[in-house]
Formats: sequence, C-alpha cells, structure tokens
Amino acid sequence: MASVTSLTANVNAHLASALSATLPEATDADPLLRRSDRADYQANGILALAKKAKANPRELATQVVEKITAPGLFKDVEVSGPGFLNITVTDKAIIDTLAARAADGDRLGVPLKDQPGISVIDYAQPNVAKEMHVGHLRSAVIGDALRGMLDFTGERTIGRHHIGDWGTQFGMLIQYLIENPDELSAETDTDGEQAMSNLNRVYKASRAVFDADEAFKERARKRVVALQSGDKETLDLWQRFVDESKVYFYSVFEKLDMEIRDDEIVGESAYNDGMPETARLLEEMGVAVRSEGALVVFFDEIRGKDDKPVPLIVQKADGGFGYAASDLTAIRNRVQDLHATSLIYVVDVRQSLHFKMVFEAARRAGWLTDEVTAHNMGYGTVLGADGKPFKTREGETVRLEDLLDEAVQRAAEVVREKAQDLTEDEIQERAAQVGIGAVKYADLSTSANRDYKFDLDQMVSLNGDTSVYLQYAYARIKSILRKAEGAEPAAHPKLELHAAERALGLHLDAFGDTVFEAAAEYAPHKLAAYLYQLASLYTSFYDKCPVLKADTEEQKENRLFLCDLTARTLHQGMALLGIRTPERL
Ligand code: ARG
Repeated sequence: MASVTSLTANVNAHLASALSATLPEATDADPLLRRSDRADYQANGILALAKKAKANPRELATQVVEKITAPGLFKDVEVSGPGFLNITVTDKAIIDTLAARAADGDRLGVPLKDQPGISVIDYAQPNVAKEMHVGHLRSAVIGDALRGMLDFTGERTIGRHHIGDWGTQFGMLIQYLIENPDELSAETDTDGEQAMSNLNRVYKASRAVFDADEAFKERARKRVVALQSGDKETLDLWQRFVDESKVYFYSVFEKLDMEIRDDEIVGESAYNDGMPETARLLEEMGVAVRSEGALVVFFDEIRGKDDKPVPLIVQKADGGFGYAASDLTAIRNRVQDLHATSLIYVVDVRQSLHFKMVFEAARRAGWLTDEVTAHNMGYGTVLGADGKPFKTREGETVRLEDLLDEAVQRAAEVVREKAQDLTEDEIQERAAQVGIGAVKYADLSTSANRDYKFDLDQMVSLNGDTSVYLQYAYARIKSILRKAEGAEPAAHPKLELHAAERALGLHLDAFGDTVFEAAAEYAPHKLAAYLYQLASLYTSFYDKCPVLKADTEEQKENRLFLCDLTARTLHQGMALLGIRTPERL
C-alpha cells in the first residue's frame, strides 16, 4: 500500500515554504489555497500577510513566486489582482499522481490516519416490540455511511445499537403473554414481517386488556417489579420479545443491504447493572442532587418555560431509572471499557437537549474528559412529498418495509425501461440495488440536520443529484472499458491534456482529501456532493474527449485510464456510503 499526497497538499506545502522563505514571520501562514475557475488553484493568503507586514501585496506575491522551487509541479504561477496567485500545475504532475493512485488498489492512494482514535457510533436503534419508522431508517443509513468513511480513514469504529429494550411497557406485554401463552408461538420466526405482525398483535391485545381491566393493570405492575428484580420466568419471556423483535430488525436491515452485528446490539437493558452505581457516584460527587425525591442534575443555562431550570432525571422518585441513566452508564462503559476517543450519536435532532444534558453531566462527573469528544449528529425529520411529516394517506405512519418495497418496485420500472440485455432476474437484482441506493442517497446527500423530503419520483430520477444517475455513470464507464477490446488503460504522463481531462483529473485526485474532510466533520453529504460532481465532470470529459476514437493509441489508453480511475473512485465512494454500483445497468 502506497499512500499518495494530493496535488492540493503538495501545492499548498510548496507555497507555504516559499511564503516563509520570503517572510520569516509567515512560518505557519496559510496560503489559503482553493480550486479556481481561472487557473487550477488560487491562493489568497498573501493579502493578509502583506497587510500585517506593511508590505505591498503585489510585490510580496512576486517575491513569493520567485522563491517557489518545484520542478515538474508548477506550469504557471501568476500574480493577479491585488496580490492573488493563480496557479496551474503541469499535465504530467496530474497524470503521474493519478497513476500512483491507480496502482494502489481499492485505497486509491488515500493514506491512513497517523493516530487513529476509537469512535463509538450509536446508530440504528429501534425499539423492541415496536415497528421501526422512517427516523430509524435515517439513523441506520447515516450511521452506516459515517462508519464506512471513518473506517476508510483508519479510525477504529465500534457500533452500538442502543435499542429500546427496557421499560414499564414490558410488564404489560409479559403479563399478557403469561396469561395467553400461545400468542407468540414462534414457529414462523424466520420471517421478519411475521415476527412484527405477531408483536403488533400482542401489543394491541395487551394494551386493550390493560386499559379495560384494573386487575390486569395491577398484575402488569407487579410484573414490572418482577422484571426489575430479575425473576427468571419474567426475564425469559422478556427475552422472547427481544428475540422476536431482532428477527424483524434484521429483516429490515437486510432489505437495507446493511450489515448489523449481533455483538453490537447493546440495548438500554445492558446498562441496568451499572445504573445504581452511576446514580451513587453522581450523588457523591454532587453532580446530581435530590429534588422532590428524585435524583436530578441541574444546568444553569438550560431552562424551559417560565425560566424554570429543566433537570436531567437520573433516578425517579419511585427509585426507577430511565433513559438518561442508561445513557450516562453507557458513556462510562464506552469511555472506560471500550476506550473511545469519540462518541457519536446518530439520533433525531429532537433528542438534542437530552444529549446536551447527558454530555454535560458526564463532563462534570469526569467520565467525559477533554480527550474525548461527544457529538449528537442530530438528523432532521423525514417529510412526505407534500412537505408535511411523512404519513400514509390515511394519516398513519408508513411501514418501513412497504416503503423500501415501493422504492425497489419503482427502481425496477426505471431499470426495465433502460435494460437492453438483462434477464428478469437481473432486473430484479439491479432494482434492489438501485431502489435501496436511491433511498440511502437521498438521505445522505442532504446535510443530516435538515429535514428532507421522501419523494420516490425524485429519488429514482435519472437526471439530477440521485444515486441512479451515479450508478448509470458507473455502468456506462464499465461498458466503455469492455468495448475497448484489447486496449488497456494506461497512464501517459507526456501527453498534453484537454481542459476537461484536467478538470476530471484534479477532481479524482481530491478523493482522499474529501473523504477525510467528510469523516472529520461527520458530513456524508460532502462525499455525496463530491461523487455527484465527479460524475458531472466525467460526463463533460466524455462529451469533449473521444475515448475509443481518440487520435492516437496513447491518447486512447490514457483516456481509458481516466475512465477506469473514475469508475473505481465512484465505486469506492459509493461503497463508503453503503450504496452498490452494478457493473451493468
Ligand atoms: N431507541 C431510541 C429511539 O427510538 C433511540 C436511541 C438513541 N441512542 C441513545 N443512546 N439514546 O428514539
């Protein structure tokens, strides 16, 4: 594995050293390099430096240009405007760099972090005995993409699926099952849909009895106590609910083409044993105080209506622990036992106050130190095409499986229409990859904290910023490579490049920088935007530069080389986002 320094990083380094050779006080100065339309790059950093040094910016810029020594890298560095630098790199530098990337397999020359940390990512956390909703879909999709990107940078990631598997509702469910033991007959428990419909049935039936029958309500309450005290029979039945739910979760995750590991499903209940200690420690340290019997943490800056402070409730007056206690205990586990350096929570933005309080409490307790970052990657609401929260026409929440099935079905129509030499089986297989990819991409291409419209028409459209567009771009390139017959992609650094080739090449070179930036900022949409631009630049390259009918054999090989590297970059980038790129479409 050979990592490749990007041209941008190279240009930046040479400029920085020319700057400090010209102005000793500019040793750490940032040349403020960015891609530009006029040339390949523009550097704006000299203006501020000149101001500071009371020098003439254009003169300073000219001196800097004289100090630049990098034979082969720069084709032209020109002072422009009040003291900008317009920088053009050589064609050879572009092709040489890309050739080094191409020689590096799937990593495409992207380096690994020098000092990788351990990121614990809390995502894909549905609730036991409940249907998953579109919010859970977002958490799963965003979390999975984030993980893909972080892994690629060399970060060690650990998943935690903090499923809602505890709470007083289990008293009712378990008591009902004790009184109606055949209701969860699990013969059909290989089918997720069946499992969920069993659970729904039990949920509805037990709710009905619970609401109508006081004596049952009392028995259910006692059952909660039995569950909390670890009564064997009660726990066994609780486990059946969890297992049945997992069958359902896994079926949805499989539809989503997403790998979820059983050892990473560590739900709320996993922290039960640690919660009394969490409470005791918080109280001893004075982080939490007793208030009306409950154990709570107050925050000066967090106030609700009437300017009353809103407390975080660690333990209720009746002694019960809830959501906050489990999250605080989870933090202790993730930092102290898993040695996390970053905690990431991909959870609905509507829970951001909860996390703000939990993080702050954990900081006060010393469980979160300066070495550990904690971040709630709060995502927005999924809206229907009409811009209102996503519901069926009857006003009910949409079942996730139905939604995914519909996406696949719509994708099948698109694939069938375009399909030339695909069998029906192949169409179905592609449809799954296109449909699920469309759902994921629509989610990932908007910045996570924004609401987004779930609009299947738009998602499977061939035009515009969709995964289908990217998948078609990929498949088209693969088809060209197949048609090349005998001619192999090969880099020819001596060739003069067309402007469209240079633009594509410079963008290809920026893949690693983009992944690192997107991973560091927890911003999958930046990678999505990069890939979309890559496909667009490829399209204009393809329009302007004949590949199979190139002027010379060398030019043909070099263009095939650009095609091949574009395909591989698209493939890898999409894979990081959890999206497949079929070879033929
Ligand atoms: N199960 C919760 C829900 O459906 C999300 C859990 C988020 N993770 C956490 N550590 N609190 O809303």
